[in-house]
Amino acid sequence: MSVARQPIGVIGTGYVGLVTAAGFAELGSEVWCIDIDVAKVERLRRGEVPIYEPGLEELLKRNSSRMHFSTDIADALEHARLLFVAVGTPPTYSGDADLSAVRAVVEAIPASDRHALVMKSTVPCGTGASLTRVFAEQGKDGLGYVSCPEFLKEGSAVKDFLNPDRVVVGDSGGWAGDAVVELYSPLDAPLVRTDIASAEMVKLASNAFLATKISFINEIANVCEETGADVVEVARGMGLDDRIGAKFLQAGIGFGGSCFPKDVDALKQLAGNSGYHFQLLTAVIDVNDLQKRRVIGKLQRHLGSLAGKRVALLGLAFKPNTDDMREASSLVLSARLLADGARIAAYDPVAEEQARLLVSGIDFASSPLDAVEGADAVVLVTEWQELLDLDWQKVAAAMKGDLVIDGRNALDPEAVRAAGLVYEGIGRR
Ligand SMILES: NC(=O)c1ccc[n+]([C@@H]2O[C@H](COP(=O)([O-])OP(=O)(O)OC[C@H]3O[C@@H](n4cnc5c(N)ncnc54)[C@H](O)[C@@H]3O)[C@@H](O)[C@H]2O)c1
Repeated sequence: MSVARQPIGVIGTGYVGLVTAAGFAELGSEVWCIDIDVAKVERLRRGEVPIYEPGLEELLKRNSSRMHFSTDIADALEHARLLFVAVGTPPTYSGDADLSAVRAVVEAIPASDRHALVMKSTVPCGTGASLTRVFAEQGKDGLGYVSCPEFLKEGSAVKDFLNPDRVVVGDSGGWAGDAVVELYSPLDAPLVRTDIASAEMVKLASNAFLATKISFINEIANVCEETGADVVEVARGMGLDDRIGAKFLQAGIGFGGSCFPKDVDALKQLAGNSGYHFQLLTAVIDVNDLQKRRVIGKLQRHLGSLAGKRVALLGLAFKPNTDDMREASSLVLSARLLADGARIAAYDPVAEEQARLLVSGIDFASSPLDAVEGADAVVLVTEWQELLDLDWQKVAAAMKGDLVIDGRNALDPEAVRAAGLVYEGIGRR
């Protein structure tokens, strides 16, 4: 696949930027990667991969001769015309997206009619229009602008980049949109070529819809608990309907991560700022907030007061196959448990380093069996394969109590019960 292709710049080397950069290098482009994090750029230059993402290390290694890392945006401007922007857009206190990193990139780019920004960062609908107004005010009218939202999933980001369900390119004419389409052409993915505002909205609406699906099945799970139905059976029956589909119908302890919570909130705020009250998203967020706390109620029902009780949390990352702890359900769960006086031992195969930066007052275990030693209850928080494959006889032997809460409905209840343990899932009989 490595035919020489047009060089590109990628601004921001996080989960999206690094995968995008390595992916386009794999397709044959020289890629200039720019980040303001000096330590990160040094690590990347040494060939170290600062994040955990399956397949990324190999991809970076294989394409190292085509990848250049720098803190100076001038390096990208010199070699490339298209500058993919993949900086963070975290939530502000108001729930709106914080666009300060995006604005910093715009400030750093001089007037030019050779260059274009390609927005990969998730930004509110209307950002492209306001940034092109800023270009005009700053005498940078010659800069092109393309919205090219990113849909990769952490944990399978490399695969997703190389096999996207679709590529969305929003522009208002000019060379840059065509150049982006050409860059993606080897992937043979369905293309949605549209205007900038619609491209921006595709991203926000997609994440909001997926989050809605999760909150919906979580509410069904909660009703199942009251009525005797089993949500796993219900979801299977629903998911076989083509119009519904099985994906994102797994009930559990709520969604987290760097995207869903902030993007749903940002769309809700965007609607509100435009004069529309997006009631459905308000409910989706409320349901998710409550869902993260429901495990506490289950623990209390079985154990009574949690003060002094030892709880083992298995998995901490917001989902398996990533070290990303942003908005992870484990953060809410551990804070609530500590507030109730419980003692926590936690294990995660890769996210411990990130978790230590965010959580204090808990013991980090070096293996799942260490974590469950002497535990009154075990909670499966993240469905890492290693945790699904646990020997429950050994777990039972190590625990003091017998309660296993399956926060992801991912365990085999029979295997857990066969070990003499009490199994409780989310909305499961
Ligand atoms: N992570 C995902 O799964 C995912 C998926 C789709 C879209 N997105 C969106 O992509 C964007 C990036 O997300 P991420 O998870 O990769 O973020 P990240 O926090 O992992 O990475 C952002 C990087 O940008 C760098 N940066 C910040 N300001 C900069 C500047 N002025 N110049 C150069 N570099 C700068 C940071 O140092 C960091 O390395 C966000 O808008 C996010 O919503 C993320």
